[in-house]
Amino acid sequence: MLTLGIETSCDETAVALVREGREVLADVVSTQIDIHRRWGGVVPELASRNHVMQLFPVMQEALSRAQVTLDAVDEIAVTSGPGLQGALLVGVQAAKSMALAKGRPLIGVNHLEGHLLAARLMAERPEPPFFGLVVSGGHTTLYEVAAFGQYRRLGTTRDDAAGEAYDKVARVLGLPYPGGVPIDQLAQNGDPKAHRFPRAMPAPDEVDWSFSGLKTAVLHHVQKHGAPQGQALADVCASFQEAVADSLTQKMINAVKRSSTKQVVMCGGVAANSRLRQLAQERCAENGLRLFLPSVKLCTDNGAMIAVAGYEAFRRGVTSPLSLDADPSWRLA
Ligand code: KG4
Ligand code: ZN
Repeated sequence: MLTLGIETSCDETAVALVREGREVLADVVSTQIDIHRRWGGVVPELASRNHVMQLFPVMQEALSRAQVTLDAVDEIAVTSGPGLQGALLVGVQAAKSMALAKGRPLIGVNHLEGHLLAARLMAERPEPPFFGLVVSGGHTTLYEVAAFGQYRRLGTTRDDAAGEAYDKVARVLGLPYPGGVPIDQLAQNGDPKAHRFPRAMPAPDEVDWSFSGLKTAVLHHVQKHGAPQGQALADVCASFQEAVADSLTQKMINAVKRSSTKQVVMCGGVAANSRLRQLAQERCAENGLRLFLPSVKLCTDNGAMIAVAGYEAFRRGVTSPLSLDADPSWRLA
């Protein structure tokens, strides 16, 4: 079974070919970050327009790397939500056209399910039941995965998503968009204990996060002391990053520890963060939990995760009609 996975929900045009839901033959990602960077965030119209221009070259590249033609594809999976409506529509329309032209099944995939199932591409992969923390630009949510297709939302952020906090703090610090990678890099040389930024624990026994207070604390720091440079900038980045990693891992582990299920997946763009990866590994080990942490490339947006989620959906008999539409606010659970 060869699955084509298409992802155009935000600012990455991505196409992958995955065999039997686990062997990645090609995974091509074309990022539009350079186009959006000067606006300080993703501009929806520019995103849609660039997906239109990039999707077919990216698809050609994926087919060529996998050394197959479209005729060899058995099913077509596409992100149909959540995300930017215009951006999603580009992928959905392309997938529908190919499904119709080639007479192949079409599967509309939830982007968050894609992030969770990216862990199925790891050499040792999780079998349900497991927990999954999705930490991305738009989401910070812990799910319980009872079975493929059965997701329960255990908790989420009350305000900003973790990635959003990275991006906003980067802007305050005069760093480029998106802020995750530059803050992560600068933090390597910084002291995480230089500043004690707040770790909001809105309700200690509940699974919920809040990052707006942390973001405001960094803003106040900059207003009081001026924009940090050199070592001072590295220290602010490291201290901010420590606060994010600390609150994400603490709440995740507290929630998982209460259950008899001892497996947890951490995924989404922010799960590419070096300190978060390290702290999650340490704390899961200390608490007897098995952590599944996909590679950095599989954490950020890609087509392979969409192919895997589509493959699993198809195996349980789920397909989408050719009337499939983009659903910008599709909730996974
Ligand atoms: O999952 P993703 O690629 O797209 C969404 O579905 O949102 O996540 C993008 C987010 C951005 O906010 C970006 O700043 C953040 O992931 N990110 C990181 C790192 N790499 C990407 N955050 C922290 N550290 C990183 N290394
Ligand atoms: Zn994503």
